[in-house]
Amino acid sequence: MDRNDSRRTAPKELSADQVERQRCFAAQVAQMHQSAGRTGENAPGCFIQTFGCQQNEADSEQMAGLASMMGYRITADAASAKLILVNTCAIREHAEKKALSVIGQFKHYKDADPEVIIGVGGCMVTQQHRADQLKHSYPYVSFIFDTGSIHTLPELLCAALQGGKRHFHIPHAEDIAEGLPIHRETSHKAWLSVMYGCNNFCSYCIVPYTRGRERSRMPDAILAQAKELIASGAKDITLLGQNVNSYGKDLGGGENFASLLRDIAALDGDFRLRFMTSHPKDVSPELIAVMSENEKIVRHFHLPVQSGSDGILKRMNRRYTAEKYLQTVTALRKAMPDISLTSDIIVGFPGETDADFEATMDMLRAAQYDMVFSFIYSPRKGTPAAEMPDQIPHEVSTERFARLLELQNAVSLARNNRFVGRTVRVLAEEVSRTDETKITGRGDSPRPIHFSGTPDLIGDFVNVKITSADTFSLNAEIAGEA
Ligand code: 5AD
Ligand code: SF4
Repeated sequence: MDRNDSRRTAPKELSADQVERQRCFAAQVAQMHQSAGRTGENAPGCFIQTFGCQQNEADSEQMAGLASMMGYRITADAASAKLILVNTCAIREHAEKKALSVIGQFKHYKDADPEVIIGVGGCMVTQQHRADQLKHSYPYVSFIFDTGSIHTLPELLCAALQGGKRHFHIPHAEDIAEGLPIHRETSHKAWLSVMYGCNNFCSYCIVPYTRGRERSRMPDAILAQAKELIASGAKDITLLGQNVNSYGKDLGGGENFASLLRDIAALDGDFRLRFMTSHPKDVSPELIAVMSENEKIVRHFHLPVQSGSDGILKRMNRRYTAEKYLQTVTALRKAMPDISLTSDIIVGFPGETDADFEATMDMLRAAQYDMVFSFIYSPRKGTPAAEMPDQIPHEVSTERFARLLELQNAVSLARNNRFVGRTVRVLAEEVSRTDETKITGRGDSPRPIHFSGTPDLIGDFVNVKITSADTFSLNAEIAGEA
């Protein structure tokens, strides 16, 4: 994997000039705060509200990194913040409504303190009608920025602080910004983006329009970041991309996701690797082999099926059949018999008949997922499915949705029960949200495991014995430190 490989088409990265330009703006903002005596404990607060997927969480860490570089203190208290950033999601209408309602509530902070600056980023604002809506109906929002132009925050903020015009232009930027500062909430868990965008154009999905075409990061940049993360204490690293299996296709240098995974897993250190999301059509035998040969890669595969009906899959433009999908499941289970599988399902896609829905129920029975994220279809403006005939009435979708949950809950409980009596190596992640005498961690399976323990364990691997299973979690006791 050589940056100078003649076959390679290097991804378009930001030029040194563009990076330098943003550094200058960041220095100006930091200088403004410094001359106003706003440093140290007096540093202005920056509050970031994140909606949506892991990619958005990773993006918010970059926003927080840039804000810290500009002299802000990252805070969980929106009321005291001088800078409020909202990182939005557009995947379903509900996500957009929630974001708009939260942005609406932030008006009070701006009314109480005109110095407060509100900026809105993420997938929602990439759509012109939402950008226009924010410009015209939310006059207290100073600027918007799309997912590809997070690096321009210093420039946008500098202009806003100097009383410049409000900024509502969406550049649809697609160059990769390497080397942005990152502010992480925890050191033991880390996101690591390996690629951005999606080329699949599933007919229901807004992502290819909001995040643009697939762009892979250079392998050496990813490996360098992985090394840094491990050196700074990361024990659980999740490689992120809208479709990680496409990694490298645009680089033309012969690397692919399997080779990237193998190279990261070969790094020294006590850490484990996860990745998401994978498209079922692209799961290669090489990827399955790399996983099964390497214990640092967790025995978990998130493999969204979306529907069990071939007719619906075709209209979703998923490019696999239920049979082909199940062959991949079989190959995964053959190589790693105890692997945890999870999936995404859309209920009520246009034209979904009772028989189509029953095919999805059959898929749940056949695939035996540990966990399923299910969603009622939400038409997204500009996607082909939104124009399809036979949109399903909400009552029909909600009734199907409830039946699907009932079936999956039974499957999940049965799957979770397989762990009872076993000793599992978990990463202690946080104090349990419902019982402060307990610690919550995770093994390979994404299910939370609760066990009695003290906060000093957080960030360590611990061996626990599973004592009982619920539908959504497992209970355990410490079996001795790993
Ligand atoms: N409506 C409902 N669910 C959707 N998803 C993506 N687009 C839509 C939509 N328009 C779901 C898919 C995807 C997950 C991240 O969100 O299941 O895998
Ligand atoms: Fe959306 Fe399909 Fe791309 Fe996933 S693979 S982000 S569902 S278009």
